[in-house]
Amino acid sequence: MSLKEKIDLGNLPQHIAVIMDGNGRWAKKKGNLRIFGHQNAITAVRETVEASAELGVQYLTLYAFSTENWSRPKQEVDALMQLLVSTISKETATLNKNNIRLQAIGDLASLPASCRKQLEEAMAKTSKNTRMTLVLALSYSGRWDITNAVQRVAEAVKAGELAPEAITEQTIGKYLATAGMPDPGLLIRTSGEQRISNFLLWQLAYTELYITELLWPDFRKEHLYEAILAYQQRERRFGKTSEQLQKAHS
Ligand code: IPE
Ligand code: IPE
Ligand code: MG
Repeated sequence: MSLKEKIDLGNLPQHIAVIMDGNGRWAKKKGNLRIFGHQNAITAVRETVEASAELGVQYLTLYAFSTENWSRPKQEVDALMQLLVSTISKETATLNKNNIRLQAIGDLASLPASCRKQLEEAMAKTSKNTRMTLVLALSYSGRWDITNAVQRVAEAVKAGELAPEAITEQTIGKYLATAGMPDPGLLIRTSGEQRISNFLLWQLAYTELYITELLWPDFRKEHLYEAILAYQQRERRFGKTSEQLQKAHS
């Protein structure tokens, strides 16, 4: 039985989030510049998108560039933005062929104009697709997201559209960049780092974490299957006891 066949399709995470980490180290190991690692990360992205869509995952969110990544050397930031533009324009046709909708979360206004334009075009061209939503987190951080939401909630309160006592967790969810998406069931991080690095702080409250030592450019479909199989072994208790869950299932 292949890894793929072992997956219980009735128990897939509806939303998978990925911290694609380790490109720089991958390149360094090969005696190359960091950007070589970013260039070689595209295959991993393509495989992850394809495998997720084939299985029937509804949402796949990829952390591609964080708010903090703006502090990297200018040369690396420029190269990453360039790579983003060229990849998005090259892949739009494939996304359409595979019925995948592209969305983006983050402070998109801070991206270079050419990058934003490509992104907006690709999002518009794929907006009607229904098989899976691919979400790129770009110039994104969890604290940015929450701060932005708080500002907008405050504006609504000021405008008299929202009463402070009526603010619930659901209200906050609606003001976050991920409004309308289910919280991730599974978070994958490559390169072995055991941290969230300011990713979806609110949304990951009860997400199952899966960390692999593999560096992102080496990530393939099989590794996604392994992560999903590990997820399916977990007991998601959401604060309850194991006995309560077993009773509910029997
Ligand atoms: C992840 O790989 C890609 C981005 C953050 C854009 P890194 O570039 O962080 O690679 P390492 O962690 O330095 O190896
Ligand atoms: C997290 O990776 C951000 C992305 C994958 C886009 P980093 O490489 O920036 O994370 P830290 O700084 O090592 O935690
Ligand atoms: Mg890194």
